[in-house]
Amino acid sequence: MAVTALTLDEFKQFREYFYKKTGIEFDDSKRYFVDKRILRRIEATGARSFREYFVHMRFEASQSEFQELVNQMTVNETYFFREDHQFRVLVSDVMDEVVHNRRRRKGPIRLLSLPCSTGEEPYSIALHLIEEWPGLAQHDVELSGCDIDTVALGKCEDGVFGERSVQHVPPAMLKRHFTPLAGRRYRISDQIRDAVRFFPRNLSDPQQTRALKGYDVIFCRNMLIYFDDQSRRRAADTLFDALNPGGFLFLGHSESMSRMSSLYTVRKFTDAIVYQRPLS
Ligand SMILES: C[S@@+](CC[C@H](N)C(=O)[O-])C[C@H]1O[C@@H](n2cnc3c(N)ncnc32)[C@H](O)[C@@H]1O
Repeated sequence: MAVTALTLDEFKQFREYFYKKTGIEFDDSKRYFVDKRILRRIEATGARSFREYFVHMRFEASQSEFQELVNQMTVNETYFFREDHQFRVLVSDVMDEVVHNRRRRKGPIRLLSLPCSTGEEPYSIALHLIEEWPGLAQHDVELSGCDIDTVALGKCEDGVFGERSVQHVPPAMLKRHFTPLAGRRYRISDQIRDAVRFFPRNLSDPQQTRALKGYDVIFCRNMLIYFDDQSRRRAADTLFDALNPGGFLFLGHSESMSRMSSLYTVRKFTDAIVYQRPLS
């Protein structure tokens, strides 16, 4: 018989597991959203009960069913030039300071967008660097984007965006870096697309974040709002370790480091507050 509803205990069991694995917290008001997606997956996998599905999802060696759920549970809302003042501070102040602080350090300047969702954030960074940072002619820059959601990462690689997504891109820039397609969609130029490397990463999984090191700038915007205090604090530590000394961290406008960590120095630029790992 088809499974048509979850009990409150089943919802809670799932919520606790998902929180431990991802840092994302679902309060009771999200029950409908969560139950609906689990029931869909129970049906798709042919499981005969929540219990059967839950055991399969947790212990499957490939973790592909867990990934499937992650892809459905994440909120990927993003668009080009979101909180644009932060990108402007990046090119007007932060990049030059990174260059200055590097002194004799070799290798490229490394920037990371985590989470990058469907790509608009790292591509916005690339557009600002190419259009507005004169230093790009002298310095090698490596730009990466990562996210827990593998479907979103596929869209990053496709580089095709809807009208709503590009609505804040100035018309001249849209003309220079995008090709209009049928259905009011836009394909980003190969030059911008090839400037960003994408890879999957779960910020709440210590095994996956251990290798995140040596970044000069990290954008971590609009993800910590889905975390509780404990996973936010853990994320703040992980991001600190991922930054080079003197490296900068941008958070979303409703996210602040003040309750999360005292490790960072608060830097007030004209248009934005940015967090910095102290130089020594
Ligand atoms: C609302 S989007 C923000 C995208 C972009 N940074 C912005 O501000 O426009 C949140 C993203 O966080 C990702 N996410 C949630 N938990 C994550 C985790 N533990 N590790 C990595 N990414 C995660 C989701 O998949 C989603 O794409």
